[in-house]
Amino acid sequence: MAARGGGLQGPLLGIGEDSPAAPQGRRSSRPWTALAIAAALLALAGVVLFLSSAGRGVGAAWDEQRRISGSGGVRPSPHEVESAEGAAAADDARCSGVGAAALRAGGHAVDAAVAAALCLGVVHPMSSGVGGGAFIVVRDAASGEAVAFDAQETAPAAATPDMYARDPPSKCKGALAMGVPGELAGLHTAWSRYGRLPWRDHFAPAIRLARHGYEVVPYVARALKKTEREVLADPGLRAVFAPEGRVLAAGETCRNPALADALERVAEEGVAAFYGGPVGESFVRDVRAAGGIVTVDDLRGYKVEVSAAMRADAMGYSFLGMPPPSSGTVGMALILNTLGGYKSLEFLKGFLGVHRLIEAIKHMLAIRMDLGDPDYVNVSGNVAEMLSPPFADKIRQRIVDNTTFPPGYYFPKWSQLRDHGTSHLCVVDGDRNSVAMTTTVNSYFGAHVLSPSTGIVVNNEMDDFSVPAARTPDHLPPAPANFIAPGKRPLSSMTPLIILKNGQLAGVVGGSGGTDIIATVTQVFLNHFIVGLDPLAAVQHPRVYHRLVPNVVKYENYTVVDGEVIALSGEAREFMEQRGHRLESTDSGAVCQFIVHDLPEPAASGGGRSVFRGKLTAVSDPRKGGSPAGL
Ligand SMILES: *[C@@H]1O[C@H](CO)[C@@H](O)[C@H](O)[C@H]1NC(C)=O
Ligand SMILES: *[C@@H]1O[C@H](CO)[C@@H](O)[C@H](O)[C@H]1NC(C)=O
Ligand SMILES: *[C@@H]1O[C@H](CO)[C@@H](O)[C@H](O)[C@H]1NC(C)=O
Repeated sequence: MAARGGGLQGPLLGIGEDSPAAPQGRRSSRPWTALAIAAALLALAGVVLFLSSAGRGVGAAWDEQRRISGSGGVRPSPHEVESAEGAAAADDARCSGVGAAALRAGGHAVDAAVAAALCLGVVHPMSSGVGGGAFIVVRDAASGEAVAFDAQETAPAAATPDMYARDPPSKCKGALAMGVPGELAGLHTAWSRYGRLPWRDHFAPAIRLARHGYEVVPYVARALKKTEREVLADPGLRAVFAPEGRVLAAGETCRNPALADALERVAEEGVAAFYGGPVGESFVRDVRAAGGIVTVDDLRGYKVEVSAAMRADAMGYSFLGMPPPSSGTVGMALILNTLGGYKSLEFLKGFLGVHRLIEAIKHMLAIRMDLGDPDYVNVSGNVAEMLSPPFADKIRQRIVDNTTFPPGYYFPKWSQLRDHGTSHLCVVDGDRNSVAMTTTVNSYFGAHVLSPSTGIVVNNEMDDFSVPAARTPDHLPPAPANFIAPGKRPLSSMTPLIILKNGQLAGVVGGSGGTDIIATVTQVFLNHFIVGLDPLAAVQHPRVYHRLVPNVVKYENYTVVDGEVIALSGEAREFMEQRGHRLESTDSGAVCQFIVHDLPEPAASGGGRSVFRGKLTAVSDPRKGGSPAGL
């Protein structure tokens, strides 16, 4: 019971010991007791208490949460599934189902990820698609080898550091904002290495959905409504998403026949059809006609960066994720190591955990802006620092429990990255191979351009680069490590992670929501692995976010599935405000997918070489209305 802090948090929070979904392996004693207690206290005092609905007791809030989560036996949740065999968790039930079907057909986790990602590109076109890019982390369970596939968009050959100087909005909106798409190349490279099923089979569900039509789900309808003006302004987007002169509503059918044709060619002819072949040629023609600078040679020259996954250790777990230009793996490691070093139990007594988490996030954000594409800038010193516990100790010493500080205190040298959108999916197969994949077109509907001849949404990934002389929202200079250069990849907050405990797969996690992804993945990890909340509750918990500038804590205030409003309690708000935090509620937090692998007792202590096959619990975040699928 060390990890759960013995009786400490029970009475405090009213968390019963009878939660059937709480994995046994995580309740038992651990060698890193002090760390665990400290972290558990943090998460308990913070993240859990945080969900107290206004005017209600903590225990009541927790019971409510558990009832919604379905783990109290009241009713099963559509956002959670258990399986002994394999599972896929995506932002959309149909795509989780497509992934699970690939597993059922004998596919590797990578097969499932490829099919699910292609499906997402059709039914969640505002967040992902073959016109975008992706980070894919794959772990082979038998060998333990973990590989990072960086299929993020790159700057075209004609790109220059000041290409947006004359017309700054064109960095974000319009075809000039497009990076060379990497999604298909990334899927193909991962599939070539691990796939067991035929390439073309993975396209069939996506092609069917695009050709015969698919139902627009509420979250997509909401995205369409939010971007209605832009969708109506682009002939390509309008034809697909507003065929009758208004954007499609939830429940209506969307068809994208040009995309079906394009996917069909790539299914039959391979990725070369896009990377230099006829599909790519049509796509480039459309993009250039819309003002873009990308060439067929850019497509032909696109290379997926394949490397060993970056490994970070914190709080007794190992995290396998993307190296830079992702700032996610090192960012989360820095936060966890900062918090994990607290030895005192004092912050049990209140909402100090939220305060400390926010402070750690603020420091991390300031520090991560030194990162950039390692092929172009030497970030090895920064990476080593962010992964180092002694450095985290120094950060912790700068956290003061009775106050927060203006942004300058955190030594922000560079203007903050503000990335967007995206979709995350997790897969674990019967052999316990695992995939964490985050895919993106950056903003909703990317550059707000759809290539009419191919049906492909054009990304606006170039917006994630820093540019000189830009007037930045936080009045800080733009980060030089993240300046544009031909072939370079922009800095990213995307954080696909595979979590290990003693060398065994413990979970897969990742999220969407730009800058807030790192805070989200961190909180979900703490909620489950350190506090012991069941997986769905860990994802459902209201979260806090910070962007350093403005100096504001955003807290979720959501109406969840069955109408229950979860918001920061008045008491918690008061605690934070006393420390000088400015608070604002948000109804659009980041979104997380999560698969947990129950490890039996021997795995938790032994760390043997054989692969354990415990129960899988897959969760798709209710915030986007997704559902996972199991075998
Ligand atoms: C990168 O920087 C580190 C120190 O931060 C240095 O030790 C290393 O030699 C540099 N590598 C290259 C290739 O310049
Ligand atoms: C925080 O505590 C220190 C003493 O520990 C005190 O000097 C300082 O004024 C306090 N700050 C605030 C904002 O209460
Ligand atoms: C939460 O949102 C509701 C509806 O928008 C609003 O009335 C309420 O004041 C908010 N509560 C908090 C604590 O922000």
